[in-house]
Amino acid sequence: MSKWWLFLVVLVVVAGGVGYRLLWAQTKGEVLMVKENPKILVAYYSYSGNTKKVALEISKNVGGDLFEIKTEGEYPQDYSAMVQQAKKEIANGYRPKLLNKVENMAQYDVIFIGSPNWWGTITPQVSSFLAAYDLDGKTVVPFVTHGGGGKQNTIDDLKAQCKGCNVSDNAWVGYGKITVGLRSWLEGLGLIK
Ligand SMILES: Cc1cc2nc3c(=O)[nH]c(=O)nc-3n(C[C@H](O)[C@H](O)[C@H](O)COP(=O)(O)O)c2cc1C
Repeated sequence: MSKWWLFLVVLVVVAGGVGYRLLWAQTKGEVLMVKENPKILVAYYSYSGNTKKVALEISKNVGGDLFEIKTEGEYPQDYSAMVQQAKKEIANGYRPKLLNKVENMAQYDVIFIGSPNWWGTITPQVSSFLAAYDLDGKTVVPFVTHGGGGKQNTIDDLKAQCKGCNVSDNAWVGYGKITVGLRSWLEGLGLIK
């Protein structure tokens, strides 16, 4: 084998190893301590569709009920104006009024809660959702989508606002609408056998 072939083989093995580790990093983590066949809710807020896509994939794979968090208030058409409005809302601790409600929250054993990363934290809509329900003792699994900043303070802020919840450390943190590794993540949580 010429040294170029050897170089190529080493390159493929190293690149494969790095790729595997990236996926593994997303999927390793805590298995949920919940009963067999838990009742699952997948609640999410999505402004431009990425978090919605992840929510749909989660519910498709684990069979949970989907709930889109809807609130009063609108955002400007212009993207940079929208981003500035969101910045102010977050700085002011704005909690928009919820327009829909989960019926019988008590029936759920596992609640996935999804938010886009906005200015390093969860959106005001998700904060309103967390404040509206008694989630004491519930197993909560966060999922966050971002535009390159990763989770930043999203998971910690969600934990702080989810009073009395058992928030899993095995959260989904994905770039945009990418769902590569999502099924293995759900397997890692113990929700797909
Ligand atoms: C108001 C606003 C603020 C954002 N702030 C961040 C940020 O701080 N860090 C980051 O990585 N992405 C940020 N993003 C990008 C979104 O998190 C990303 O595009 C996300 O996947 C959008 O989800 P959605 O399509 O469900 O709304 C921001 C987007 C918006 C609209």
